[in-house]
Amino acid sequence: MDNLETNLFVDKLSASFEITKDDMKEMLANFHDEMKRGLADQASSLKMLPAFVDIATSKEKGKYIALDLGGTNFRVLQIELDGRGGAKVAHVSKFVIPKALMRGTGVQLFNFVAKSIHKFLIDNKIGLNKKRNLGFTFSFPVNQTNISTGILINWTKGFTAKGVVGSNVMKLLTDSIRKFGMEKVKVVALANDTVGTLATGSYRDPRCDIGIIFGTGTNACYRERIGNIKKLDIKSKKNQHMIVNIEWGNFNKIPTTEYDLRLDKATNNPGKQRMEKMISGMYLGEIARLILANMIKYKLIFKNSKAKFAKGEFKTRHLSFVTSDHTEQLDKIHGYLEGLGILNTTFEERELLKNICKIVSKRAARISAAAISAVITWMDPKLRSDHTIAIDGTVYKRLPDFRRIILGELKELHKSKAKKIKLVHTKDGSGIGVAIAAAVATS
Ligand code: BGC
Repeated sequence: MDNLETNLFVDKLSASFEITKDDMKEMLANFHDEMKRGLADQASSLKMLPAFVDIATSKEKGKYIALDLGGTNFRVLQIELDGRGGAKVAHVSKFVIPKALMRGTGVQLFNFVAKSIHKFLIDNKIGLNKKRNLGFTFSFPVNQTNISTGILINWTKGFTAKGVVGSNVMKLLTDSIRKFGMEKVKVVALANDTVGTLATGSYRDPRCDIGIIFGTGTNACYRERIGNIKKLDIKSKKNQHMIVNIEWGNFNKIPTTEYDLRLDKATNNPGKQRMEKMISGMYLGEIARLILANMIKYKLIFKNSKAKFAKGEFKTRHLSFVTSDHTEQLDKIHGYLEGLGILNTTFEERELLKNICKIVSKRAARISAAAISAVITWMDPKLRSDHTIAIDGTVYKRLPDFRRIILGELKELHKSKAKKIKLVHTKDGSGIGVAIAAAVATS
């Protein structure tokens, strides 16, 4: 392997993945501009969707069924809220959504969901005879006019099920639930996973005003004064607050590389979710894979192997695994590569692989930090108050250094005021939060 050529390649790559201070500043300004336009119903890459619910009061109480649909897994939970900020997941079942259902028809998808609820109610001896209020976490962009209606705007994260875009997902769900004989189950609230996460965070901590998911997809929501949501004409309530789902995954004013463009082209939603495609779990591994495939092609890495790294073969969990190998000789990476049939790798090659993964994940963390900073300064330009941010998702939980880099960048951007920003991992937010929304809806 020609070291000089490899080094040149990596230098060029790092430079193209670098998010400079100026890039960050520009991103921040553009983000604010797009937020403003989105709130006023003008053309914008940020949809700024009103959620028709405010943050929690901690007094919400009762037992609710929660559904969580938004990634490769679908979950049904029973949540108990104690009315004092405490929430318990009494039961939970996880169902894997077959790929064919993600891409079939909406009716098939919702029938699968209903069948799973039925199984959950029977298996956990909750039964079908008592009245049950159900909250639905549906983690896709929906247009709501109240807490119990939502029209799907577009699918993301590889879902393409037909007949759902433009329809009320609450009606589709209710129809399927009735088909499976669950007359007593009432679907009362709809929420995005970020909204659920913020509701859960604020149930525990009243300073919590932002909810974020860094998972298969990415998104954030925050607390807005109703008077600022220009597209909502509720003058009587202009000084009250409501959560707004930003749908920041679709933000598109970020410097891109040739790899981003190639990745985007190969998805089933080209041109959409550009920021999501640089940050989230569905795509990070694939970006690294595209780089590696290029390097293999130019014989800059794994020269003596027939490795191809075909599409989808290097997942974000592999990227996490590689970057978390701190053994002296990078033995874990060695083992992983051997499993792929890539034998006899040199230490330099393993280090190179780790480096590529770090370049990709560092950019993701820096873009995330810029987006977080944009939302905070939108709410509080001089950072006068404390802000707790409720966060969940596999990228946040498992990608080494992701949280650390975000914190470092926030410090860089806000100096001593960065202390006012607290990032809190909020587990099960998308289940508990929608139970809180269901409690509000039925109180
Ligand atoms: C969806 C959002 C969701 C996010 C995280 C994105 O693809 O558009 O609605 O909140 O993924 O699950």
